[in-house]
Amino acid sequence: FRSLFLFGALTLLLAGCGEENLSALKPKGYGAELLLDLMLISIAIMIFVFIIVMAIYAFVLVRYREKKGQEHTIPKQTEGNKALEVIWTVIPIILLLVLAIPTVQATFDLADKSTQGDEGVITIDVTANQYWWQFTYADQEIATSQELYIPTGERVYLNMKSSDVIHSFWLPSIAGKMDTNPGENMNTMYLEAYEEGVYWGHCAELCGPSHSLMDFRVIAVSQDEYDQWVEDMKNIDPEAAPETTTAQEGQQLFNDNCMSCHAIGGASAGVGPNLANFGNREKIAGILEPTKENLVDWIVHPDEIKPGNQMPTEIVSEEEASKIADYLLQLQHSDVGTDVPT
Ligand code: CUA
Repeated sequence: FRSLFLFGALTLLLAGCGEENLSALKPKGYGAELLLDLMLISIAIMIFVFIIVMAIYAFVLVRYREKKGQEHTIPKQTEGNKALEVIWTVIPIILLLVLAIPTVQATFDLADKSTQGDEGVITIDVTANQYWWQFTYADQEIATSQELYIPTGERVYLNMKSSDVIHSFWLPSIAGKMDTNPGENMNTMYLEAYEEGVYWGHCAELCGPSHSLMDFRVIAVSQDEYDQWVEDMKNIDPEAAPETTTAQEGQQLFNDNCMSCHAIGGASAGVGPNLANFGNREKIAGILEPTKENLVDWIVHPDEIKPGNQMPTEIVSEEEASKIADYLLQLQHSDVGTDVPT
């Protein structure tokens, strides 16, 4: 009963993952589909081996058990059996081949795709940082943090590196997983989303105390919406004056205190995240609901919320942080992607 309960709990837990589009079992993209096929092949092989081994085990248990009234002796000992040895060597070799051939095929397939530089494909540079992601669209001269916009059904190539330690870009429902390394050792990855939607990804390499908070969103939209989004992003003016007085004061405070690390719009690959369209974020710092209260908390005490992150603490007062929050939350330059299914 206990194992049944645990199994049920696990099922519920995994079902929960599916709701957020964070499941390798519900592929919505090219790489994820290949990976699920490989998983199914290995599961089928495991089930096959398990059934055969259990059948032999049960047969031996029943057939050679000590019968009633039988004398308690050591049975006749045998040594070596060529036929059996050949069988239990050849069968695993065949099973390994059945697993290896499609695995190698899929590996080369994805490697081929991720090194192509064809016309019409979108190349995006991914930089992992403790504990956030930067996505730079070099050709379009725009950058985002935490949110990767892609057109649905189009080929997207990622060039991936890290600015500090090893992280891992894990996007289970579309593409699978790839390490991001510091230094010159750049990895590449191929993305292709089949359906419009919001797909969650996560850092999958232990990278410090806030590793578990290092997530990102991939927003797959139609080609038209994507073009619109790129246009909107290009036209962001960090100097544009907000409507309310407090937001205007917040803008001044932000420019004085935060702009040395952050940027708003442009293609900056700075020390801190680019905060373009910050008001559209679904989470603050990857963990908090996007309310003003939470944002103020985050600006004043970032280390309490996300231990080990690079943002300086208590750089502004709570009152100043409140104005900065007013400014940041009204940065909603684009409504692209707000209507896609999550
Ligand atoms: Cu980055 Cu774990």
